[in-house]
Amino acid sequence: MPEPRRLHDPTPEPRADHVGAGASAAAPDAKLSLRDVSHVFGSGAGAITAVEGIAIDIPVRSLVSVIGRSGCGKTTLFNIVAGLLRPTRGRVLLDGEDIGGRAGLVSYMLQKDLLLPWRTVVDNVVLGLELGGMRMAEARAHARPLMRRYGLGGFEDQYPAALSGGMRQRAALLRTLLCDRDVILLDEPFGALDAQTRFSMQEWLLALWQDFGRTIVLVTHDVDEAVFLSDEIVVLSPRPGRVRARLPVALPRPRARSIVTSAEFARTKERCLDLLFDADPAASPEPPGAR
Ligand SMILES: Nc1ncnc2c1ncn2[C@@H]1O[C@H](COP(=O)(O)OP(=O)(O)O)[C@@H](O)[C@H]1O
Ligand SMILES: [Mg+2]
Repeated sequence: MPEPRRLHDPTPEPRADHVGAGASAAAPDAKLSLRDVSHVFGSGAGAITAVEGIAIDIPVRSLVSVIGRSGCGKTTLFNIVAGLLRPTRGRVLLDGEDIGGRAGLVSYMLQKDLLLPWRTVVDNVVLGLELGGMRMAEARAHARPLMRRYGLGGFEDQYPAALSGGMRQRAALLRTLLCDRDVILLDEPFGALDAQTRFSMQEWLLALWQDFGRTIVLVTHDVDEAVFLSDEIVVLSPRPGRVRARLPVALPRPRARSIVTSAEFARTKERCLDLLFDADPAASPEPPGAR
């Protein structure tokens, strides 16, 4: 297993907004591309279009958040990218290659991710390595220093029931990360945590992301979380989920918590809220001070 890579470029170039671009080839620096992806559940009168015409390029080693109201198709989109669901239409490209319907090529932490209660924390963390064929002793030896480094020291041989919600999420996230895929999908990873634990988990995630140099796509419905973490925020419309806007986040990295009081943070947040809650964002005025 490789050691954590330190590949992360400090601040990716801000990108222009693209809304619903067509089925062109993947952008040159795109790690993951969705090309005109739509999904319909069921058929006939009961058919539900969950997502429609989604076109997104996710640059390599970026951290991109997807936000949208409940039921707008965020989990459906992740299930498609993870290969658990074949889209009704459109393509998913990883490094330019069509991976539609193929599971196991990206790491995926489900919205309701569970640790196995009968396994110790370290044995939960190594699950992905074990499934990948690594011997248990080797997998544990690999995981233990990482657990110490990322705030799980002393909990390795406990059972999940002994852990707080934040610690359980750390273990689940570390397990996802150790699957050693370039792209990690996190579906509302901090949704169940209290506000203070959330804050520290967000900082923890940024540290991991910077150390490991992975591409992370994260679903959240917490706008502050999206702004604090992301290089770019993809705002989806209510169902059927369509890309309403892609907002670059022009905040410097590394990001300290104090950044949430900056004018740029407030501007980005306001723009996100406008896009989430306005019926017609094209008609809404620019927030004060926006460029
Ligand atoms: N397996 C399914 N069968 C039918 N409808 C589904 C299924 N999964 C999700 N849906 C519907 O698709 C829409 C999007 O769901 P989902 O992707 O879970 O939204 P989100 O994660 O944004 O809350 C919802 O209306 C949901 O009821
Ligand atoms: Mg969901």
